[in-house]
Amino acid sequence: MKKILNKKIVFFGGKGGVGKSTSASAFALTLAKQGNRTLLVSTDPAHNVGDIFQKPLSGKPQTLTDNLWAIEIDPDEETKRYLDGVKKNLKGLVKSKMVEEAHRQIDLAAGSPGADEAALFDRLVSIILDEKAAFDTIVFDTAPTGHTIRLLTLPELMGAWIDGMLKRRQSMNENYSAWMEDGEPVEDPIYDILHKRKERFSAVREVLLDERQTEYVFVLNPERLPIVETEKAVQTLKKHDIDVRTLVVNKLLPKEETSSFFQKRMEQEKEYLEWINRTFAQDKIYIPLLDGDVSSLEALHQVSERMEAELYVRP
Ligand SMILES: Nc1ncnc2c1ncn2[C@@H]1O[C@H](COP(=O)(O)OP(=O)(O)OP(=O)(O)O)[C@@H](O)[C@H]1O
Ligand SMILES: [Mg+2]
Repeated sequence: MKKILNKKIVFFGGKGGVGKSTSASAFALTLAKQGNRTLLVSTDPAHNVGDIFQKPLSGKPQTLTDNLWAIEIDPDEETKRYLDGVKKNLKGLVKSKMVEEAHRQIDLAAGSPGADEAALFDRLVSIILDEKAAFDTIVFDTAPTGHTIRLLTLPELMGAWIDGMLKRRQSMNENYSAWMEDGEPVEDPIYDILHKRKERFSAVREVLLDERQTEYVFVLNPERLPIVETEKAVQTLKKHDIDVRTLVVNKLLPKEETSSFFQKRMEQEKEYLEWINRTFAQDKIYIPLLDGDVSSLEALHQVSERMEAELYVRP
């Protein structure tokens, strides 16, 4: 059985335009058709999952078909929600005359690099921790490679960052207790908030690093640049203890074409497929190039059927 099956969480990543959204949608549809409650989540700021299913989507799960729901994360909305949360946390922590200035600073931070990512990551954490019980599988369609790698390695970075903050606060509090000379530990709401976040990040990290629960899929085409980029991405993720164990090789030329033009392209494709086989020991799912874009449910069913055959029929 292919490693991608029976997982709680499946991420689809890859270079721009290789077919991440198409593959993630087709895979989610395949699972749903087999009776698995499936949630498809798009984390790509330039969405097109809603276009593929021809349904408007939002930040809350919307029904697509039997057993299939989808969420599109809107980065602006998430950034706003995230910063509102930060403001709420500040209540009672900051002297009231400081609140206005603190809010101004937070609003300024909304436009800074990284704010969108932090917000997106926060939503990812909440989807994984809070929706996991309600679905058999959550399928993530991600943005092109670099963005996804940053996102997936955030739990590690954020964990280290929060650890540092917690240590600093702890020693500050200890000094303060000693200075007060009554030895009573001081109450520190900021410490508690940080600690809670740390616990949620650790919980997510555990899920993301558990290969029985989470699968990482890279989509590529039998072409030079996607192969090179996939090699690099697989190595980078490996450094962060994330194992990519499945590849979708998408847009294979149709074998029935016999013109000399196609013969030539086919020969080149054969070389790239050999390169892929030599380089990657991962499970592979092969999807042919259809005669048009996968922008209707009918075309998506076609891809899904092909995927199903690859998942269950081939050894
Ligand atoms: N097997 C296929 N046959 C024909 N067209 C395909 C196939 N797979 C994907 N496409 C088309 O290729 C284009 C890119 O696919 P898709 O949007 O799934 O890629 P993506 O990797 O999600 O792109 P992005 O990096 O922009 O998110 C779309 O127009 C899609 O319909
Ligand atoms: Mg996409």
